[in-house]
Amino acid sequence: RLKVIEVFEGLSFPGNLHTQESLRAAVNFQFQDTDVLLVTFPKSGTNWMQQILSLIFNKENPQHAQSLPTWQRVPWIEQIHLLNCLTDVKTSKVRLLTTHLHARLLIHKLKNTKTRVVYMARNPKDVLVSYYHFHKLAKFMPEFDSFEDFFDHFLEGKVFYGSWFDHIKDWLSVQQELNFFLITYEELSQEPCQTIQNLANFLGEQLEPKDLQNILHYCSFSFMSQNELLNYTLIPSDVFDHSVGKFMRKGETGNWKEHFSPEQNTRFNHVYQREMGDLIIKFPWS
Ligand code: PPS
Repeated sequence: RLKVIEVFEGLSFPGNLHTQESLRAAVNFQFQDTDVLLVTFPKSGTNWMQQILSLIFNKENPQHAQSLPTWQRVPWIEQIHLLNCLTDVKTSKVRLLTTHLHARLLIHKLKNTKTRVVYMARNPKDVLVSYYHFHKLAKFMPEFDSFEDFFDHFLEGKVFYGSWFDHIKDWLSVQQELNFFLITYEELSQEPCQTIQNLANFLGEQLEPKDLQNILHYCSFSFMSQNELLNYTLIPSDVFDHSVGKFMRKGETGNWKEHFSPEQNTRFNHVYQREMGDLIIKFPWS
């Protein structure tokens, strides 16, 4: 396995997706008032929300959401592929963009815009488990000796894209300065209709009952995991080892319970309390 690591502003990134230039371009990205920026820590349901945003803004043509991979319709601003994808994005009425970057790297460019920022969060225990499996699937990710080893690195924030705790706290700390909407993977799983409706309200998009039905269908785990433009099975085998698993793995809430030992759960809860205890906000998992 050839692994290139890019270190930028104290965070590490997989070098096959990012270069110093692509990361600098993201930090200097010129947002427009009409842009929608999806912000996630990896494995928080990014692709799911990319699909939903794309469907909301192309509701008259839901086929669009299966004509191109999600990363081309809602590209990451920090990835090397951005420039190619932006031409596709420009054909829609708003630019739909994605980032995994921390707020401190983007706030200076975002705070004086009306860019709509959608922060999608997921139970960090499920993020950890999903990320662990992604490290096995993606050949460009570091190898860990065991789940326990990965668990320790995740809690210490020593994984690509940094600490989950820093990421969410960083974004929540600047929400007042932004046109900001917080949404969780859990709410979307448990109450999809109401959650998508609330999101559409924030985005200023009107959804008819038939639009909502289309969105629910095309963003469902069963639809996305069976569509080869959406499920990452077309990624070449030198990049993803398809023999060890799937990108669209489970799509569930609470899968951590099948992975964490009682001792790991106690340790996780302790760190969670230390890092998040002061936040007033109540998450569906806490
Ligand atoms: S990435 O690599 O950061 O872009 O990954 P990301 O898309 O954020 O997260 C991948 C996890 O999201 C699950 N997923 C979904 N869940 C429910 N519904 C839909 N439609 C959906 N699409 C993707 C995917 O299965 C990964 O979670 P796990 O727990 O590993 O299954």
